[in-house]
Parts: sequence; structure tokens; C-alpha cells
Amino acid sequence: MASLLLLAVLAPCVVQTYSVNHEQLSKREVPDQAQIISWKSFNVLPNVLPPTLSNASTLFIPPGYDLESLTDKPFHIYDDEFYDVIGTNPTLTLIANAGTNPLFHEATVWYPPTDDMFFAQNAGVPAAGTGLNKSNIIMKISVPEAAAVSHLRNATGSVKIQTVDAPAIKNTNGGTNFQGQILFLAEGQGDNETSNLVLMNPREPYNTTVVLNNYFGRQFNSFDDGAVNPRNGELYFTDSLYGYLQDFRPAPGLRLQIYRYNGDTGAVAAVADGYSLLNGITFSPNGSYAYVTDTGAFAGVWGWNLTRPASIYRYDVKEDGTFENRKLFAYTESGVADGIHTDSKGNVYGGCGDGVHIWNPSGKLIGKIFLGKTSANFQFAGEGRLVILAEEELYYATVAVGGSQYISDV
Ligand SMILES: *[C@@H]1O[C@H](CO)[C@@H](O)[C@H](O)[C@H]1NC(C)=O
Ligand SMILES: *[C@@H]1O[C@H](CO)[C@@H](O)[C@H](O)[C@H]1NC(C)=O
Ligand SMILES: *[C@@H]1O[C@H](CO)[C@@H](O)[C@H](O)[C@H]1NC(C)=O
Ligand SMILES: *[C@@H]1O[C@H](CO)[C@@H](O)[C@H](O)[C@H]1NC(C)=O
Ligand SMILES: *[C@@H]1O[C@H](CO)[C@@H](O)[C@H](O)[C@H]1NC(C)=O
Ligand SMILES: *[C@@H]1O[C@H](CO)[C@@H](O)[C@H](O)[C@H]1NC(C)=O
Ligand SMILES: *[C@@H]1O[C@H](CO)[C@@H](O)[C@H](O)[C@H]1NC(C)=O
Repeated sequence: MASLLLLAVLAPCVVQTYSVNHEQLSKREVPDQAQIISWKSFNVLPNVLPPTLSNASTLFIPPGYDLESLTDKPFHIYDDEFYDVIGTNPTLTLIANAGTNPLFHEATVWYPPTDDMFFAQNAGVPAAGTGLNKSNIIMKISVPEAAAVSHLRNATGSVKIQTVDAPAIKNTNGGTNFQGQILFLAEGQGDNETSNLVLMNPREPYNTTVVLNNYFGRQFNSFDDGAVNPRNGELYFTDSLYGYLQDFRPAPGLRLQIYRYNGDTGAVAAVADGYSLLNGITFSPNGSYAYVTDTGAFAGVWGWNLTRPASIYRYDVKEDGTFENRKLFAYTESGVADGIHTDSKGNVYGGCGDGVHIWNPSGKLIGKIFLGKTSANFQFAGEGRLVILAEEELYYATVAVGGSQYISDV
């Protein structure tokens, strides 16, 4: 009774405190390259178009904005929590433009000892000429070179894009740090060059060793992405279908699944299924959650199906490394969430149709790094530094948080 009374007395104070705090937060100075996008500004639109005109592949421009004003201040604050992600002076710099060649696609991996960021060209799209005839290429940049021009918005030409000569890796689509080296996930090429996991020496001569290329004699379909769980050190990877949907791999011979691979014993086990089109995978900082994207809404050369997933699912990772309690974590309105990563606070970042979206651990969209075009993937280079791939364009961003990628074995 007494405590109830106390609560009743305290309640108005609590509300009061909250509103004061809220006001203070909202009065936080908006950094130069940031702007607040108020949900209320577009909750009600004068004219809401049908799905044939407004859908996952159209760019949503809230009333009162245009593409120029949205890209001019690319850090979009949807929630006050985003201030802690971007800090007081976030920056976004265009560091390369490859014309029509989608050189900057996926498989972003940071190698701390040399401070290089590796990545791969898009595989299987006509503009790249890759897929069946030609494998995509792996490249790298030196992160300090990008950091040196972060005061500029457009620094194209000032960062060297170096091609990494690793011809054994066919149509790379994913990558991660693994046991002190870099592990790339290759989709494969044609009927006989199957998907495989390839370890690459992150230093010259970039020699490679294939560590997995079959499931009991059967080909994997089309490897997409992988991540190491920080608790057990195993690689969890997705086997999807994009090589087939882009006409350079045969029709699938296995179910679309998430697998785990133990680098010490070589053991492989299926962990989860039930996906339309599997894609990115990552873990929360301490490995207790797994996040997996389903990009079923986009089926390569077969185009879009808007009722299929553009979704991120979350699992609890049990002590024994198995997954349970799959739940819907987020659904993106723009394109699909492709590559995903977490920061050290547990926020989840996804490469989407208009840039990088950032959700807090409860799945609330707190902000975007808006590019006005698709980012399939990106990666933290330690604290406060991000390299963002946007197909023909490559960006460098500075923020106030670091990544949570598992690299303690480097
Ligand atoms: C989505 O909208 C665009 C116009 O912005 C249209 O060209 C396209 O056909 C639509 N896609 C679907 C699947 O309806
Ligand atoms: C592959 O090469 C053949 C023969 O040169 C050509 O006809 C075809 O268009 C190429 N396919 C792609 C996807 O580049
Ligand atoms: C960036 O600078 C390059 C070289 O000066 C120029 O060609 C390009 O149009 C610029 N891009 C943008 C988006 O301003
Ligand atoms: C793939 O391998 C099979 C069996 O060895 C062979 O018959 C076929 O010609 C090969 N295909 C290509 C494109 O090399
Ligand atoms: C690269 O070559 C060195 C020297 O032979 C070897 O020790 C290392 O294991 C190789 N790395 C890979 C990933 O093949
Ligand atoms: C891992 O982090 C989550 C929050 O992200 C926390 O709830 C959980 O207790 C942590 N687990 C361990 C074993 O530290
Ligand atoms: C889109 O996907 C749904 C759900 O899988 C399916 O029922 C429907 O037939 C698909 N539509 C088209 C046009 O393929």
C-alpha cells in the first residue's frame, strides 16, 4: 500500500523528468552532415501511390525534401539514440567512382595488422561481365589513405584501389576474418566449379587454400555470407541461390540453409532453414544473438516479388552454438537488407536500397547513412571508421562507435 502510494506520488515527477530529458536530447546540436527526419513529417502523405509506383525499388523522399537535400546531409536521425552512434562530427566521403562497373559490392573484410580493407566486385550482373565467363575480382584499400581525406565530401582519385591477385576464389560474395587470415565465400562458376570456402593470406602473395567445397560429395548451391561466433570461434555461413538466379550456377541440389563449420575439426552442420533467399549473417557483440537477412523479395534476374521477405531475423544462440527462437527483427522499406554487421553497442547495421540503415537492439530504426542508392555491404575498420560499398561508388565514413566483428584471433 505504502509503495503504491509512493509510486502514485512519484509518477508525475517521473513523467516530468522524462519530458525534460527528452527536450534536452532533442536540443542536442545536429552535426553538420546530419539532419533529423521526423516520422510525423511523413506519417500522413497527401497522395499514397499504389505498389506499382511506390515499392522496394523506389526511393522514398519525405515531403519537403529532395534527393539533393537528403544526400547533402547524409546522416539521417530517426531517433535520439542515433546521436550516440554518429557523435558530434560524422563525415561521409566519396573515395572512388568506377563509372558503370559495380566494383564495390560485397565481402568487406578489415585486416587490422596492415589496416587494409578488402572487398569484391559484383558477381553475375551484366555491367560487371562476371559470372559464367569471368570471375569477379578482389580488391583492397589502405584505410589510412581514406582517413586522410575524410574532411572532404568528394575525394575520388585520392585513394588507391589495389587488385588482389587471388584467382582461385571464384565469384566471391562474402568474407570474414578467420583464424588469423581472411576467409572468402565463393559462389563458384558454372556446373563444375562449386561454391567453396577459401582461406586467403591477407599479405602478399595472397596465396589461398580451399577449406570446404562439398557436403558429403554434394555441391553447395551458392555461398553468400559468413560470420564467426565470438563464443565458439566457429564460422556460420549462408548457402543461398543467387549464383543460380544470376545464371552462373546450376539449379540447387541442397536446401537453402545456414551451416556452421568448425575450423579445427572440419565438422559441418546445418543450423537453420526456412528462408526464401538467405543472405547476410552476423552476431551481437558477445555472440548471444545471431542476425540473418532474408532477401527473398529480390530474385536476381527474376526480379522483385514485393510480398516476399526484405527482412532481418534474430535467433538466440545457445551455449552449444545452436540457434533457437527465431523472430522477426526488422523489415526494410528500401530494397532488401543485404550485408549486416553490429557495432560494439549491439546496434544492427544493414546495407539497404538507399544506404545503410541502423536499428537499435530492439529493432527500432534509429538512423540511416543515406546514399540515395544501394549499399550491399560495408564494414567497420575498428573504432569510428566505416568503409561503405555502393556498387559503382566507394565511401568512407567516420562515426562515434566501433564494430563488433570478431577479430581477436588476428
Ligand atoms: C516499383 O515502382 C517503380 C516506379 O517507381 C516501377 O517502375 C516498378 O515496376 C515497380 N515494381 C514493381 C515490382 O511493381
Ligand atoms: C559469355 O561469353 C560468351 C561468348 O564470348 C558471350 O556470348 C556471352 O554473352 C557471355 N556471357 C556473359 C554473361 O558475359
Ligand atoms: C567528384 O569529383 C570527381 C573528380 O573531380 C568528379 O568527376 C565527380 O563528378 C564528383 N562527384 C560528385 C558526386 O560530385
Ligand atoms: C563438368 O564435369 C563433367 C564431369 O566431369 C564433364 O562431363 C563436363 O564436361 C564438365 N563441364 C564443363 C563445362 O567443364
Ligand atoms: C600461404 O603460404 C604460406 C607459406 O607457404 C603458408 O604458411 C600459409 O599457410 C599459406 N596460406 C594460405 C591461406 O594458403
Ligand atoms: C550478451 O549480451 C546481451 C545483451 O546484448 C546480454 O543480455 C547477455 O546477458 C550477454 N550474455 C553474456 C553471456 O554476457
Ligand atoms: C510472390 O511470392 C508469393 C509468396 O511466395 C507467391 O505466392 C506469389 O505467387 C509470388 N508472385 C509472383 C508474381 O511470382
